[in-house]
Amino acid sequence: HPHVASKRVSIVHNGIIENYRSIRHRLEALGHRFSSDTDSEVLAHLFVEAFDAGMDPSAATQSVLAEIDGAYAFAVMSTDYPDMLIVARNASPLALGIGDDACYIGSDATALSHLTRKVVYLKDNDYALVRATGVAVYQADGEPVNREHVIVAASQGLVDKGGYRHYMEKEIHEQPDAIAHSLAAMTDKNGCLTARMSEKKLREVEGIVLLAAGTSHYATQIARYWIESLANVPVVCEVASEYRYRQPATASYNLAIAVSQSGESLDTLMAMRHAADCGMSTIGLVNVPNSTIAREANTVLPTRAGPEIGVASTKSFTAQLTVLLCFAVALARVKGQIDVARANAIHVEIQGLPGLVGRALCLFDEMRPVAHKLSSAKSALYLGRGALYPLALEGALKLKELSYIHAEGFASGEMKHGPIALIEDDIPVVALLAADSVMTKASNNLREANARGGKIILISDSDAAVEVDYASAVITVPNVSSLLSPILLAVPAQILAYLTAVEKGTDVDQPRNLAKSVTVE
Ligand code: G6P
Repeated sequence: HPHVASKRVSIVHNGIIENYRSIRHRLEALGHRFSSDTDSEVLAHLFVEAFDAGMDPSAATQSVLAEIDGAYAFAVMSTDYPDMLIVARNASPLALGIGDDACYIGSDATALSHLTRKVVYLKDNDYALVRATGVAVYQADGEPVNREHVIVAASQGLVDKGGYRHYMEKEIHEQPDAIAHSLAAMTDKNGCLTARMSEKKLREVEGIVLLAAGTSHYATQIARYWIESLANVPVVCEVASEYRYRQPATASYNLAIAVSQSGESLDTLMAMRHAADCGMSTIGLVNVPNSTIAREANTVLPTRAGPEIGVASTKSFTAQLTVLLCFAVALARVKGQIDVARANAIHVEIQGLPGLVGRALCLFDEMRPVAHKLSSAKSALYLGRGALYPLALEGALKLKELSYIHAEGFASGEMKHGPIALIEDDIPVVALLAADSVMTKASNNLREANARGGKIILISDSDAAVEVDYASAVITVPNVSSLLSPILLAVPAQILAYLTAVEKGTDVDQPRNLAKSVTVE
């Protein structure tokens, strides 16, 4: 990028033009010369063609939009109209910033917030002509349309590293605040946990579909344990990219919760739309207010983690878990599955979480030697049981995405059904263990892995650590109830991945091949 055609039109494009091959063949037959193999370049040539035919910017954009299929947010500059940018979107996000004497375009408000806090979000199939003096927004058919000018929160502004070496390190340290602020967002004016929707609506919830990708998907898998055990409401967790294409049977579910830090993951957005089309009511659980998922969902549950810059999610993960646990408690209360005393007791425990996470942050120094050893491994296994099983999946994801060490997470009890064949001398086995109802069974699974040569790196609460006398390294956090242990144990799992990546010298905040927000399929 940019892609330039005929030295007249330059474009940048996020998304995929699905029918670019046929467009390219048509244009090549007319004499257009392409300089790349990308789908994006056809946009530049389509605009040249439209301008050559005498169309003005608005008519040219309508004709281009009528021809292309796919997801896109693009911007066009032409030497014919030097005071103007043309922008359009479908599915991929696009925000226009309105300044005092300039206008700006960006993929979201965060990218613009050091320039202006006044933002216009384009809807799907909108296009806009952007000049320094203002923006004019149109629907795909050329009809002018007014889109609201939104004032975004100052906290959505760009952030610096605050003295930390990496954004990720800073964001790990911001978790006590992220959790406390997210808890506040889920507390009503009477000081009780709330699901931020009416009791009537909550009472009507019969089955819940949790939709998400990546780390957010693992948050939903943990939440499933909470919602089913506390509220006795059936839950399915769906990888968003699979959901809408696999013709799911939806009759038993009437609520879909799309969980997304960015609120812009295209797969999650599309899955939520599919759920809405199937008649479900929708909740967007997002960290970015005004994101597309937030704007489209019937109800918004906010995480208040603040801007997350590191590609690998940390504080938004624990904030999502906090909100999902609060939601589970509020649902269970309305459904009559738990009494006020139990709800209050859990609430008090969540209130104590920021302090406990703060203590877990002191583990950095103690974990450096463990990370040093782990950094020379070719492969690592992560094991957990119960709600710590999805945390094992998340821990393995963190290690592989940051340090490029191959890592797999398994349910401890599943080891004997196959994965145990992977155990060889000195393979690191990161074990997530809490003093809960499955601790003894989980510990036995670990002992077996250890007996076959696995080097156990134990991440556990203090009580569970006492049960394990075979670990090579023991990292402990304070005791908490089993409901909260996935949130607290997430912190050392993040620190381990972070320190291992630092040891290996990888690009911690921007790992290879990854994007913070994936707005294409
Ligand atoms: C990308 C990021 C992941 C993130 C996932 C979902 O793949 O690299 O860190 O978990 O998207 O993002 P979301 O914004 O929807 O939570």
